[in-house]
Amino acid sequence: MTTNLIARLSRGAAPAVIALALAACGAGEAAQRQDLRAAEPGKTAEATKLASAELPADAPLMVIYKSPSCGCCAKWVDHIRANGFRVEIHDGDAEVAARKTEWRVPREMHSCHTAKVGDYVIEGHVPAAEIKRMLAEKPDIAGLAVPGMPRGTPGMEGPYPADRYDVVAFTHDGQTSVFASK
Ligand code: CU
Ligand code: CU
Repeated sequence: MTTNLIARLSRGAAPAVIALALAACGAGEAAQRQDLRAAEPGKTAEATKLASAELPADAPLMVIYKSPSCGCCAKWVDHIRANGFRVEIHDGDAEVAARKTEWRVPREMHSCHTAKVGDYVIEGHVPAAEIKRMLAEKPDIAGLAVPGMPRGTPGMEGPYPADRYDVVAFTHDGQTSVFASK
């Protein structure tokens, strides 16, 4: 599924349709995934390449779980790297779902990829600047999310007008509050 199609589906779509788009985004291509795993179990060639990227050793590490076939996930990874984070990438749909459960991401926060920096969970297309602000302020939250896949978020840029969206802080018991409005 192309990013454009996901964008079309996300535009004003009902939650069920967004869920469908996210599922499709995460559908992946089993053959490709198996090839990558064969090369290096648990990591992709991309992750191996990124591991050697020139970033300070003390740069924060973002551990990212994403679908290998989701273009918007890869673009968000680029955004995170460009903003000075080291990245560790795990490709695989089952892993993405497992981390959402393990890290207790509230269902209504779900998006296409799930990550962790320090003890904080990052769900979806959260801008790096807000992640850095969270790391500086150290709020007592589980993490930040941009639910769904709003247009104009990092990784979801396109030839279309950006959506207004909120970066949402969430707790493990499901409380949410607006961390930033875009
Ligand atoms: Cu996405
Ligand atoms: Cu994604």
